[in-house]
Amino acid sequence: MKTVFGNWKMNGTPGALKEWEAAFSPLPGVQAGLFLPHTLLSAYLPIAIGAQDVSRYEKTGAYTGEISATLAREVGASMALCGHSERRHGLGESDSLVKQKAENALRAGLKVVLCVGETLEIREKGEQNAYVEKQLRDSWPQEEGEVIVAYEPVWAIGTGKTAETADIQAMHQFIKNLALGPNLTILYGGSVTAANASEILSAQGVDGFLVGGASLKADQFKSICEAALK
Ligand code: PGA
Repeated sequence: MKTVFGNWKMNGTPGALKEWEAAFSPLPGVQAGLFLPHTLLSAYLPIAIGAQDVSRYEKTGAYTGEISATLAREVGASMALCGHSERRHGLGESDSLVKQKAENALRAGLKVVLCVGETLEIREKGEQNAYVEKQLRDSWPQEEGEVIVAYEPVWAIGTGKTAETADIQAMHQFIKNLALGPNLTILYGGSVTAANASEILSAQGVDGFLVGGASLKADQFKSICEAALK
């Protein structure tokens, strides 16, 4: 079964989510979910809900402004995104911090979607495999639980540029061959839309998508799920 997760980033109101839910119907053959801002984690959805980030601190405590994996789980999250490029490259999160957050999420009983991906500079130097392998090895959580990998080339996120299908296939095969876990699920992310979903899925080793911009529209997200059914 393919997996299609949306990432709403810093978008969405309760009203917008209600409208989205009214226009979306889950497909039995696709594992779907949405990573929502923390303000929406307690909403009802017929698909899985995930937090876009969790605190480096565990459970509860005097950490003003932080949201722990435990608190996210309490209100309904069943998954957490860890190491999204907007946090790694935009906010300077290190591999060790991402690892700590992922371990907290697993200990709280959340499924982890661990994001990795190279910058354009690294790709142009042909060093993407070594770069992604280091990210994976240094941020891989040492805890029991389910970890899914999302490969998202940084230069393809929110830019309308997608990686070449052959390059996506090569990277997914490379990650599978690292043997980080049995039957590892690897999603592709970066400007996925209803128009390019089928083409990207033709690459071997693509188990689904992490969709940003296009997940905000229920009809787009539904069409991507439909493509994942075929
Ligand atoms: P995008 O974002 O689909 O808007 O490129 C993907 C992501 O950030 O996960």
